[in-house]
Amino acid sequence: MCGIVGYVGTKDAVPIVMEGLRRLEYRGYDSAGVAVAVDGHLELRRAEGKLGNLDRVIAERPASGTLGIGHTRWATHGRPSETNAHPHLDCDGVTAVIHNGIVENYRELKDDLIARKHRFGSETDTEVIVHLVEEELRAGRDLAEAARRALRRIEGAAAVVLVSASDPKTIVAARISNAGGVIVGYGDGENFVASDMPALLEHTRTFSFLDHGEMVVVRPDLVRFMDLDGKEIVKAKTTVAFDVVSAAKGGYKHFMLKEIFEQPRAISDALLARVDRRTSRVIFDEDVKMTEADARAVTRISIVACGTSYHAGIAGKYLIERLAGIPTDVELASEYRYREPAIVPGQVTLALTQSGETVDTLAAMEEAQRRGARLVWIGNVVGSQASRMAADVIYLHAGPEIAVAASKTYTATVVCLLLYALFLAQRRGKIDEATSRGILAGAFHLPTLVDGALQSSEQVRTLAYRYYAARDFLHLGRGVNYATALEGALKLKELSYAHAEGTAGGEMKHGTNALIDENLPVIAIAPRDGVYRKMLSNIEEVRARAGIVIAVATAGDAEIRDKADEVITIPACHELVSPVVAIVPLQLFAYHVADRRGCDVDQPRNLAKTVTVE
Ligand code: F6R
Repeated sequence: MCGIVGYVGTKDAVPIVMEGLRRLEYRGYDSAGVAVAVDGHLELRRAEGKLGNLDRVIAERPASGTLGIGHTRWATHGRPSETNAHPHLDCDGVTAVIHNGIVENYRELKDDLIARKHRFGSETDTEVIVHLVEEELRAGRDLAEAARRALRRIEGAAAVVLVSASDPKTIVAARISNAGGVIVGYGDGENFVASDMPALLEHTRTFSFLDHGEMVVVRPDLVRFMDLDGKEIVKAKTTVAFDVVSAAKGGYKHFMLKEIFEQPRAISDALLARVDRRTSRVIFDEDVKMTEADARAVTRISIVACGTSYHAGIAGKYLIERLAGIPTDVELASEYRYREPAIVPGQVTLALTQSGETVDTLAAMEEAQRRGARLVWIGNVVGSQASRMAADVIYLHAGPEIAVAASKTYTATVVCLLLYALFLAQRRGKIDEATSRGILAGAFHLPTLVDGALQSSEQVRTLAYRYYAARDFLHLGRGVNYATALEGALKLKELSYAHAEGTAGGEMKHGTNALIDENLPVIAIAPRDGVYRKMLSNIEEVRARAGIVIAVATAGDAEIRDKADEVITIPACHELVSPVVAIVPLQLFAYHVADRRGCDVDQPRNLAKTVTVE
């Protein structure tokens, strides 16, 4: 889950690569490095820690050339350090590699290479790649052929980029397995490679995407694709509309805060043009191929996802079962792939992954497809691997999300799940027009409702500053807002490093009650919905044990004020859209607690935005 950027053309590669890396720093930030071809050799600059450290190294020892590659790392093999930072060089310092993923057979390869007198400068699995390429180059092969032969020996998951001072006008990149995206960006007399589009949006909007088992040779005036057997292939070019400006902080202290506040817009974009207002029918565009007959034939839906997307899936199960009446289960993608999942005829596997590149989710998709399920994907990143695997694709249209912790992609995913549940319900004749109209009215109101929830920001900040030092927090929810409890707790954990647990209210008496004492803030999500009374009972249970209750309640609810220590209000809304509204104060709470604790909100320790390793 590292960031990768490469440039070949006529300009100085170093500033272009560094700027691209800055836009990808959310992918990995424990070390970084660049290699640039200068007068027949490669100049290497690397630094442990954030990109700013590498900036300083480059300022002290400048290097420039028209071919360069760079990398921000998120360590898997080998601790974060300057020597383990990419790029890695071969024995002669002529060829360099950067890599995202894991070389599973690196131990055998490394032993073999050491036996043949190769000298290793790092503890990484990556370095074996460049020594394998070195052997092929020594045998007289050009960089592309050397790379192809070397990469065929790699087992595991990898996006790989190679350059060599022996051929200073060529970048070779490859994608092995689904982990680690590689994109090619097209310029005029210059071309680019990267792991993600935001790295290149300043320079180009036209891209091609490598699939599993493909490689590309990129020169200033030529881009040539082939598979790992050496067979030439033709790749389509895609032009995207992502805006660079929307990838900047726009006056907010952190991307996280900006993205929380972007939710009204992201939600309206997710809804936009997907409903026929006259008939209240959900109409997806041509990326969703599912016909009415297909929808009627669905017997079961299995949602696979990780982290925040998994929490969206829990809300999704509730929505799909309630509206479309289709039995739905939600699975952690990382567990799914390591058992023998039973697939029934007519099954849909619904993958939720905003990045479309989470390796556990991609592997679960692959497994489900192999066993005969139809793949549906809901996610954000255009051209991602998931988008290319799925039969039906529903884009979030949330715009780039830069903060490592998800916010607007969570709410946009829940909105898309609601639309998908309605789509299925309508195609299967499970819902009448009046009911659809009522639910959609609630959905169309969401941008205003979320805007209303955002108005509590200052109050939430005050509360966050009051409770920021607590060691543990408990988030309680029921029904569709059980998902909100889980997601609220995850946000707090990852942003502030406080321990937080999300629990279904009804489960407290089965164990969690033992945690409650006068030091435990309990965040109770209790809007006026079908389980409101049950939540009130849970709040009483907490109060009876001296816990501190912070309730998230519907505006105007006087009853809850007598029972809770603190009340944050959200606007009244339809029960089915309430998770989208109720999560907002919890995102803000996590943000403000983290900021008060002095945490790195946009790039929490030990995490990365796109998890392309198992
Ligand atoms: C939490 C967070 C992660 C991701 C998870 C899956 O804020 O961002 O838990 O939700 O890594 O990511 P995607 O949706 O890209 O598959």
